[in-house]
Amino acid sequence: MSELRGKRALVTGASSGIGAAIARDLAARGTNLVLTARRKEQLEAVAAECRAAGVTVDVITADLGAPGAVATLWDAAVAGGSIDICINNAGFGYFRPFGEVEASREAELVQLNITSLVELSRRWVAGRTGGTGAGRRYLMNIASIGAYQSVPNMALYAASKAFVRNFTEALHDELARTESSATCICPGGTETEFHAQAGAGNYGWVANASMMSAEACAKRSVVAMLKRRRTYIPGLINKLSCFGVRFVPRRFASWMAQRVLGKPRPGALPERSIAA
Ligand SMILES: NC(=O)c1ccc[n+]([C@@H]2O[C@H](COP(=O)([O-])OP(=O)(O)OC[C@H]3O[C@@H](n4cnc5c(N)ncnc54)[C@H](OP(=O)(O)O)[C@@H]3O)[C@@H](O)[C@H]2O)c1
Repeated sequence: MSELRGKRALVTGASSGIGAAIARDLAARGTNLVLTARRKEQLEAVAAECRAAGVTVDVITADLGAPGAVATLWDAAVAGGSIDICINNAGFGYFRPFGEVEASREAELVQLNITSLVELSRRWVAGRTGGTGAGRRYLMNIASIGAYQSVPNMALYAASKAFVRNFTEALHDELARTESSATCICPGGTETEFHAQAGAGNYGWVANASMMSAEACAKRSVVAMLKRRRTYIPGLINKLSCFGVRFVPRRFASWMAQRVLGKPRPGALPERSIAA
């Protein structure tokens, strides 16, 4: 617990799901927080829970799916002190054939899942020498088990997570033998708002059987980060499936993913409200 006490962490996508659970876990370990997402009310509710653990919490709303948002967010975050821990968790996907969703939504996905994550990682790396935080520093980038293969109906999402995995693992190796470490987390199905937002959820039994709570995913992910793991996959079935794809043709793995995920839910994708 003491290792993270007094450090300061930026958590993106902290208004719900895995990000909110990571924020609560870090607060319980004595970490001061900067929480960001678009929905202010939900962020404030998570912040209040974290403050009850005795840590300081700053809330900054930002739409990281929009170009230029990272610079403003980072400047506001470091105004309150250096960032020792950067948790790039915010992300979304949609479960639809590629091209059936507006191009603007695809651009938003690339901006949020890839570009903003890279921009925040860059600022965290740059803070390595100039920051005031003493001792160990941590970067956690959230990918997915979808990073291990192509996923029909989630083509762009899975590709974005493959990017996150390759990028973060390379960064981990670059930072070896320094006080800083980068860890890539690859969750499988986790009980969050993600599935409803993605228009997914008609899953096969394998996907349902391996579903994990956001709290369990967060707790294990923070421990993996503290152990300076290169990559961590929460859950045995998820670990086995990511290991198993090494031994089957890529086309077969893609077909399997399609079977496990089932069909997209009919109807329009939900629009998440954007807080001012
Ligand atoms: N749940 C799963 O099964 C699963 C599996 C593998 C990987 N993951 C990954 O886990 C991460 C967390 O997702 P989750 O499952 O916890 O889903 P979630 O409950 O929908 O959380 C997503 C978070 O990202 C934030 N976000 C979305 N768009 C944003 C934007 N444009 N700007 C800033 N923040 C934005 C959301 O906040 P606002 O809407 O308030 O902005 C929310 O806090 C994602 O990277 C996801 O890809 C999830």
